[in-house]
Amino acid sequence: MLPTPHIAAKSSEQIAETVLLPGDPLRAKFIAENFLENPVQFNAVRNMLGYTGFYQGKPVSVMGSGMGMPSIGIYSYELIHFYGAKKLIRVGSCGAYQPDIKVRDIIIAMSASTNSNYASQFGLPGTYAPTASWELLKQAVAVAEAKGYPVKVGNVLSSDIFYDADPEAWKRWAKMGVLAVEMEAAALYMNAAYAGVDALCILTVSDSLVTKEALPAAERERTFTQMMEIALSLA
Ligand code: HPA
Repeated sequence: MLPTPHIAAKSSEQIAETVLLPGDPLRAKFIAENFLENPVQFNAVRNMLGYTGFYQGKPVSVMGSGMGMPSIGIYSYELIHFYGAKKLIRVGSCGAYQPDIKVRDIIIAMSASTNSNYASQFGLPGTYAPTASWELLKQAVAVAEAKGYPVKVGNVLSSDIFYDADPEAWKRWAKMGVLAVEMEAAALYMNAAYAGVDALCILTVSDSLVTKEALPAAERERTFTQMMEIALSLA
């Protein structure tokens, strides 16, 4: 039944099969205005701006996901089940957990560990391993290599907690080789897996828990453009 509670588009034709999902709705607007041809806005419910346009002649949508697994869980569910989205690509930022990962680096999340209870809805015994689409992962790495953009590929943590009461908690994930922390990939990967569609999460490192370095907002541009080129090539 369209529209959905959170997306105003009245027809699935207003949204492309490939949807890019930055966390920030104003980032979605920036992407639509700077990377897409002829963008048309399809959503402003809760100011979660969404647009559909073209990239090199192919239809692409971009919409904010909001912060955290509940938020991206809602938007990705509606995009998949009500609007026919088939390739969902999160383009976000993350905090580095490893000393060899620096601000401005690009990370592609092969898998997403989580401290969230999101997977309990699927009624699985034990733990589930939220994993990127191999097709999208393979293509993204190939594009990055062809363009000469260095990327790190591995496990990230999708955390429910930004301000952790235990300031040392991150070190236990880091010890397990987790590359970086963000807050959405695991829910996106689970929703996509359950629905049989493709998802990928590409991240730029905005800060480091190891060195405490943080990238000023104005300085993120160059890596952001490289991340967008990789993401858009998947359309
Ligand atoms: N924690 C969680 N999410 C993030 C961070 C962080 O340090 N940096 C960017 N996204």
